Amino acid sequence: MNKVFLNLGQQPLANSFLKDIKRSTLRNEFFYNLKICFNTKNYLVSIKKPVNPKKQYTDQYAHRASESKTMRLAFKQIAKKLFKRFKPKKIMEIGSNDGVFLKNFNKKSVIAVEPCKNLARITKKLFKTYDEFWNLKLSKKLIKEKKGEIDLIFSANTISHIPNLEETFTGINNILSQDGVFVIEDPSLLKVLQNNSYDQFYDEHVYVFSSISINNIIKKYGLRLFDIEHLTTHGGSNRYYICKEKGKYKQSLRLKRALKKELSYKLDKIKSYYKFSKRVKLSRKKLFKLIESLKKRNKKIISYGATYKSTTVFNYCRINSRMIDYVTDTTLNKQGKYTPGTHLKIISPKDGINDNIDYAFLGAWNFKKEIFKKEKNFLRRGGRFITHVPKVTTLSK
Ligand code: TMP
Repeated sequence: MNKVFLNLGQQPLANSFLKDIKRSTLRNEFFYNLKICFNTKNYLVSIKKPVNPKKQYTDQYAHRASESKTMRLAFKQIAKKLFKRFKPKKIMEIGSNDGVFLKNFNKKSVIAVEPCKNLARITKKLFKTYDEFWNLKLSKKLIKEKKGEIDLIFSANTISHIPNLEETFTGINNILSQDGVFVIEDPSLLKVLQNNSYDQFYDEHVYVFSSISINNIIKKYGLRLFDIEHLTTHGGSNRYYICKEKGKYKQSLRLKRALKKELSYKLDKIKSYYKFSKRVKLSRKKLFKLIESLKKRNKKIISYGATYKSTTVFNYCRINSRMIDYVTDTTLNKQGKYTPGTHLKIISPKDGINDNIDYAFLGAWNFKKEIFKKEKNFLRRGGRFITHVPKVTTLSK
């Protein structure tokens, strides 16, 4: 039933930035084999052997959603929109990060669920926060504490990170009010195939959902997909609207269209994934060749954004410190550390973006607009970005 179509090789945890590169540190670095498979029955695309979440979501978790202006704005807008459409009295978020979404509501009406203790500590000061993994046990605890019957449950870029979908959705059904709505946002499989963005596969993305797979899976747990929106965030995501099987919402026209479109792109056929896999291998060859040829011409190349996605790209394409001088990143707790697996030094853009650089690999390609605006000077004086999405090329504007 589960057929492997892509092998991205030995990979480290995308979030495991190293404090130093001493031999003893490197000896302990964790690697796993990142293989991606397709379920021919329910059309779900997933990592063959997910990593234990306790290894991933620790109190060292680096990603802060509030640090990107694009994300802050996106969360503010969606909060406003959901409030207007559903008028929820009780709201919960699973994977609340630093509170970037929940901050937009009345503090008394929200519950945060965030297993990374460093992040949960931030929101505990603002509103009720459970620093736990979302699972069946937590749903029962909420009911016991009379915190069930929630009208709006939101979860952005989190449900695709939880290996156990059965517990996830059963738990949701337990605490959702009769006409409550569960809204999830996750990268779109169709976009991954269209953009050849194989770097959406890393340890945390246990699943890359499509509307056809979500539609199939949740039925088993008394839930129903009734609407969808396509988003530009994270390089192309879907926002799925889910209600209880007997909830009052009708299936929207745009959902019908989305399901049809995915079928017309043959997301239900293994052949499409084998073809994708061939394109990925070609992309690897081209990227390696491009960087090698620039290096031979003595060009100075850095990487822009120490992203989780670039962990997949660099480790898969065997791009190393001989090819890339360093990585710049705005996140304070990534600065001074080293990239997982490839051990490139991460420094602040202030220190790293200078007139000596010829090329910058666009690790944060999903923030291209924001970055191009910010780096006008770099581009104006002839600097170019390297990207692999949707195809390997250099960009000057
Ligand atoms: P991601 O792994 O969630 O895509 O995170 C994007 C990373 O890119 C994050 O560490 C911040 C970094 N970044 C920059 O360094 N400069 C920028 O201008 C932007 C938008 C992001």
